[in-house]
Amino acid sequence: MLLGVNIDHVATLRNARGGVEPNVVECAKLCILNGADSITTHLREDRRHIKDEDVKLIRKELNTKLNLEMAMTDEMQSIALSVMPDAVCIVPEKRQELTTEGGLDIAGQLERGKNFVKPLVEKGIEVSLFIDPDKKQVQAAYETGAQFIELHTGTYSNTFGTDKEKQSFEDLKTAAEFAQSLGLKVNAGHGLNYENVDRMHEISGLYELNIGHSIIARSISVGLPQAVKEMKDLVK
Ligand code: PXP
Repeated sequence: MLLGVNIDHVATLRNARGGVEPNVVECAKLCILNGADSITTHLREDRRHIKDEDVKLIRKELNTKLNLEMAMTDEMQSIALSVMPDAVCIVPEKRQELTTEGGLDIAGQLERGKNFVKPLVEKGIEVSLFIDPDKKQVQAAYETGAQFIELHTGTYSNTFGTDKEKQSFEDLKTAAEFAQSLGLKVNAGHGLNYENVDRMHEISGLYELNIGHSIIARSISVGLPQAVKEMKDLVK
């Protein structure tokens, strides 16, 4: 199973001060140097974290797989066709949400989906649709011509350790198996962390996990001792 690291929240922190620190491209390089198989960025319509320039710089400076998460809009399609990431993941987007809440309703907009996916696939970009583990959505994703789906693991993550975990995990497994039977490759992500990630090994053939928040959050805990020591040396 491969690991894609979502670095959106490096940009969230940078934007809090409006400067250049932490440097998004340098952090992307650190992820790759330490075993990440790809870098994921979500270019949101409101540009609240990742900016257009970040995506372009990562594409230019890193010789690694770039996965661009984006909404199904004309603007995003034209950015993808110009930046040419290796992969795009089409996500639903609401301005008010804190993060991507729920999967894309591709079954409810299948014709639009097909038209959106086609030029991307024709240009050689891997296309993935971020959907809930629901057979109807998997079937529709397949019909768009996309090669991948990414299963939204938010419900599994939220129910982990509760009596609802069994069902939410089964939903993921069933959806993954159905997608694979159609020939789709299956990724997963959202809310995965150092405790709940292990069960992803129980879903056979999962291709890649995309994980952001828990990695960036943990990097503060594990990186803080070093950061303080270095400053203390300079100050004392
Ligand atoms: N996959 C997709 C499609 C997402 O939208 C997100 C959140 O941006 C993630 C994975 C990563 O989720 P998290 O930050 O909770 O690990």
